[in-house]
Amino acid sequence: ENNLKINIAIDGPAGAGKSTIARLVAKELSYIYVDTGAMYRAVTWHMLKAGIKPESAAEVLRHAQAMEIELIPGADGQKVLVDGRDVTPYIRSLEVSGMVSQYAQIEGLRKHLVALQQQMAARKGVVMDGRDIGTTVLPNAELKIFMTASVKERALRRFKELGDAQGVTLEQLEKDISERDRLDAGREISPLRCADDAIVLDTTHMDIPQVVDTIVSYCKTHTNS
Ligand code: DC
Repeated sequence: ENNLKINIAIDGPAGAGKSTIARLVAKELSYIYVDTGAMYRAVTWHMLKAGIKPESAAEVLRHAQAMEIELIPGADGQKVLVDGRDVTPYIRSLEVSGMVSQYAQIEGLRKHLVALQQQMAARKGVVMDGRDIGTTVLPNAELKIFMTASVKERALRRFKELGDAQGVTLEQLEKDISERDRLDAGREISPLRCADDAIVLDTTHMDIPQVVDTIVSYCKTHTNS
């Protein structure tokens, strides 16, 4: 048995199932899961609450630097704490989802969060998911996965995930996801892009255990070599 731990970067567009998969892969390997999208969401939630617009980049950065963001692993998913307060229920709201891409474009904010993410991964044994992990945050990650699925399939997955509670239609979600793809891939700073050395995994026709097994077996190939 080899206890060598590696870092695993999982990138891909919104709704490809990255966070579900990354969490399960981490569990299977006893690795730490880091959801970087949750960090951008936590910052967005905080800025909306404080009334700081994305146009005020310097203000956003100042507030972000003063914020404490903690990711706490738990049995039923990861908890996100901002200055000690559990904000997990708020960061997936449509309000935050609708604004997060605009804050995520701010260069100074990205630098700040990337540095935090690099610290979290410094001791290896991390599964990190996001948009720029393989390209910018962990360019030396031993295993990089670029997860995709069709827009239709991703909208359907998010629809099931949200349930009826938010009163949102499938069509609306398809539109939201296409728009977010456009913003995330089109921004100047760290656009969503597949790293040259990433393995592309199209999960449109795969179920969750299949995707998890595939990634875990890639990881084992690495740690046994
Ligand atoms: O994965 P998610 O939907 O929770 O991500 C929320 C937003 O944060 C998404 O619109 C893109 C942005 N994001 C980013 O720019 N870089 C990351 N590493 C993770 C997320």
